[in-house]
Amino acid sequence: MTQQDEAVSLETLIRATVPRYTSYPTAPHFSAEVGADTYGGFLDRAAAADGPVSLYVHIPFCHSICHYCGCTTKASRRYAPIEAYVEVLRSEIAMVAARIGRRAVSHIHWGGGTPNLLSAAAFEAIVGDFHRFFDVGPTAEHAIELDPRHLGDGRARFLAGIGVNRASLGVQDFDPMVQAAIGRIQPAETVAAAVEQLRDAGISSLSFDLIYGLPEQSVSSIERTVEAAVALAPDRISLFGYAHVPWFRINQKLIDASKLPGSEQRLELERAAHAAIAAAGYAPIGIDHFARPGDPMAVALSQRTLRRNFQGYTTDRAETLIGFGASSIGRTPAGYAQNVTDTGNWRERITGGRLATERGRVLTPEDRLRADVIEQILCFFDADLAATAARHGADPALFSADLDKLAPLVRAGWVVADGGKLAIVRNGAELARLVASAFDAYLGTGGRHSVAV
Ligand SMILES: C[S@@+](CC[C@H](N)C(=O)[O-])C[C@H]1O[C@@H](n2cnc3c(N)ncnc32)[C@H](O)[C@@H]1O
Ligand code: SF4
Repeated sequence: MTQQDEAVSLETLIRATVPRYTSYPTAPHFSAEVGADTYGGFLDRAAAADGPVSLYVHIPFCHSICHYCGCTTKASRRYAPIEAYVEVLRSEIAMVAARIGRRAVSHIHWGGGTPNLLSAAAFEAIVGDFHRFFDVGPTAEHAIELDPRHLGDGRARFLAGIGVNRASLGVQDFDPMVQAAIGRIQPAETVAAAVEQLRDAGISSLSFDLIYGLPEQSVSSIERTVEAAVALAPDRISLFGYAHVPWFRINQKLIDASKLPGSEQRLELERAAHAAIAAAGYAPIGIDHFARPGDPMAVALSQRTLRRNFQGYTTDRAETLIGFGASSIGRTPAGYAQNVTDTGNWRERITGGRLATERGRVLTPEDRLRADVIEQILCFFDADLAATAARHGADPALFSADLDKLAPLVRAGWVVADGGKLAIVRNGAELARLVASAFDAYLGTGGRHSVAV
C-alpha cells in the first residue's frame, strides 16, 4: 500500500466502476452453461422445495424509446406484435407451471418496457393463467411498472380489478429542459393525474423512479424535481444514477455526452437529491431507495428482512423467482437462468416446446456464501462475516484477502472490521457497492459497469 493509496479521497473511491449487485455473480458472468436442460433441472429441484415463489413478467415493448433508456425493450406502434407476444407468454407460463407444480405465489411483478401497453384482454388472460396454475392468495403483492404518459382512462380501476396493488411510475425528472434532453416529455400534471387515478382506484402503494446524472440537471433543478415528487406523496422513491452505456444501448447515442455531468457533479446531484428526499421525511433504504416510515420496505430494513433482487430492493423473501418473457431472469436456489433476449428466438423456442433459457449461472457453495455477504452489505451496509460463514459451513478465513482490500477504508474510518463483523460507518449509500465488490471473486473478469455514484 503506497502513501498515495492511503491518501485516496472518498470522491476518487466512489468513481470506481463497480456493479450494482442485483445478483451475485452478476449478469456479465452468466454463461451458456445454463440452457433449457439445466434450467429445467433447477425447476425440478425448486418443485421439491417448500415456500412460495415469485413471478416476474417482462413486457419488452414501449410506445417510443426514451433516449436514456437502458432497459431491454423496443418501440411498437402496432398492437399485433404485442398480441403475438402474449400468446407465447401464456405457453411459457403453462410450460413452467407444469414443471414446478401448483405453488403459492408471494409476489407478482410486471416489468418492462411498458407493461401497461397490454390490452385488458391480455392482462385478464395472463392473470387468469396465474390463478389457474398457481395459488395466488389475497395477500400476494402484485406490482406493475407504469409509464404515467400512457395510463389511459379507467386503466387504474381495471388493474385494481385484476389484483394489482402496487405501482411504480417512471418520473425521471420534472424539469422541462432535462426532459427535452432525454427525449421524455412528461408534464408534472400527467404524473399528478396518474397518481390521482391510481389512488382513486385503490392502488395506493405508489413508488416513483427518479434519475440523477442526466444532461441539463443542476443541483437546484434536481431539488425542484424532488420537491414536486414529494408533493405527490409517493410511498417510495427510487433514485437511480443514470447509467450511460451507449456501446450497449444505441438509443443513448441520442444523449449529448458533452452535456452529461462529470463525476463530481454527479456526486453533488446525488447528494442534493438524497438530502432533499430525506428532509421530506423519507427513510433511506440501501443505496438508492427511500420509503416513508411505516412502509413495508422501511419495516423490512429495520427488521433486517430486506432483500435485493433484479428489480432492486424488495420485501419479497421467496427463494425462487420465475422469470417469464424474452430476456427475463429467474433465480432458484440452484442458480440463475436468463431467457434469450431476442423475441423471435424466444418465440421459436417456446412454440417448439422448449424452455427459452440462453444463459445463467449454476451457483457453487462459495457463490452462495459471497452472495449472502454482498446482499447484506447492499441492504444493511454491514455483514456478519463469521455468522454468515458458519451458516454456509465455511471457514471465515476465506474472507481474509477480501478484508485486506478494505484496509484503506478501515484506516480512513469509513469501515469498521472487527470480531468477524464488518460495518460501513460513514457514507454507506456511496460506499456500499465498492465495499461489496471486495467480496466479489469475479470482479474485473466480466463486462463494463457504470460508476458507483
Ligand atoms: C421499465 S422503466 C419504468 C416503466 C416505464 N417504462 C417508464 O419508463 O415509465 C424502469 C426504470 O428504469 C430507469 N432507467 C431506465 N434507463 C435507465 C438508465 N440508463 N439509467 C438509470 N436508470 C434507468 C428509469 O427510472 C425507469 O423508470
Ligand atoms: S424508460 Fe420506460 S418508457 Fe422509456 S424506453 Fe425505457 S422502458 Fe420504455
